[in-house]
Amino acid sequence: MPERTSQIDDPQLAAQGEAAFRWFAERMPVQRALGERFGRTRPLTGRRVAVCLHVEPKLVAWIDVLIAGGVEALAVVGCIGSTQAATAAYLATRPNVTVYAREADDWRTHNDYITEVLSSPWEILVDNGSSLTTRWHESPPAWVPLGATEETRTGKLRLAATGLPVRFPVIVVDDSPLKRTVENSLGVGQSVVDGILRATSLILGGKRVLVMGYGWCGQGISRRLLGMGAIPMVCEVDPIRRLQAKLEGNLVGSPDELLPLADLVITVTGRDHALTLDHVPLLKKDAILCNAGHFSTEIDVEAFGAASTKTWEIRKGITAYEIGNRKFFLLCQGHLVNLAAADGNPIEVMDLGLALQALSMVEISLAGGRLPQGVQPVPEAVNRATAELCLAHF
Ligand SMILES: NC(=O)c1ccc[n+]([C@@H]2O[C@H](COP(=O)([O-])OP(=O)(O)OC[C@H]3O[C@@H](n4cnc5c(N)ncnc54)[C@H](O)[C@@H]3O)[C@@H](O)[C@H]2O)c1
Repeated sequence: MPERTSQIDDPQLAAQGEAAFRWFAERMPVQRALGERFGRTRPLTGRRVAVCLHVEPKLVAWIDVLIAGGVEALAVVGCIGSTQAATAAYLATRPNVTVYAREADDWRTHNDYITEVLSSPWEILVDNGSSLTTRWHESPPAWVPLGATEETRTGKLRLAATGLPVRFPVIVVDDSPLKRTVENSLGVGQSVVDGILRATSLILGGKRVLVMGYGWCGQGISRRLLGMGAIPMVCEVDPIRRLQAKLEGNLVGSPDELLPLADLVITVTGRDHALTLDHVPLLKKDAILCNAGHFSTEIDVEAFGAASTKTWEIRKGITAYEIGNRKFFLLCQGHLVNLAAADGNPIEVMDLGLALQALSMVEISLAGGRLPQGVQPVPEAVNRATAELCLAHF
């Protein structure tokens, strides 16, 4: 096994990362309970685990649970646009953990990290956006993991889009009813509003805000916007969800109808190019655009850059574009606004989500290769056990 060196911004930031970690970890009672239990039962003894998740303080509390459970080696790749450099530095102080996460990572560096990580064998892959699992299937190495988990909708769609048969068990945490209601709806709703406020400092009351995509996340965002006094509007391709949006108090319509009205536009569809260059002439003057879906490609930022006559940074996290006679603002280069401008989902929400991840990994570990191949939901027993844990500790 080759010696690996962490690829992080600055190891000197570890003390700063530790200070932030303490605030978060002390408010994650479920991770604490799991850590104690895993320390006794060691359900992950000797396992080698490759992870691709957002590198922010809550992740470190979860990594400690895995280490308590007996994991032998961990590689952690950050997601693009959400890495906190101090957390990456602190995480890299853990024994047998190699971290690949810099704040300025882009697709090229991210793909390089995935290539490097997959050049060694791993028994469990933990993915967010299917960077590890999709690459494994596109260029299969000589080893096959016991199984993988996938955190999010975009990852499930990305893996399906390869059209390749899935060659090991992939537990889709996003399909858990617990994750959908607690994280995608309640958590993302709050944290996306938090990210927008931190980036812009604007009042939401009275603003017309267009949410593109009324899935679990979009519904949560719209409800929080309503609570903040904004006037939510929804574009949704599915007529059933469009009807739901209308009956829940949103103005619904097509992009042609609603973009000219919107002060702020949030994409959260899980698909590429929900907002493209074709939409630019429809934008209201000085509209603000942002994305809450997993990849920044929900907004065609590349095409905006190529077509603009002028772009400039107003302040950290706000870029102005001039295209034709339209001027508009993009938050955080289209990266997930709740992670790029704030701390991501609320602590308790991730305490729950990461418990689902850890207990799904235990299922994979204990089954030792006997789970069916292919995409599958979180086992019902894991959903129920996680809900009971949260009820006992929150
Ligand atoms: N920011 C975060 O912290 C966070 C957390 C969880 C999930 N996510 C991401 O948010 C995205 C949405 O997740 P979800 O759970 O709501 O998924 P979902 O599948 O429940 O909802 C997506 C909705 O978008 C609609 N849609 C697709 N293309 C559209 C388009 N062009 N215009 C309008 N609507 C369109 C779909 O019909 C669907 O109703 C995914 O990328 C997911 O990975 C982000």
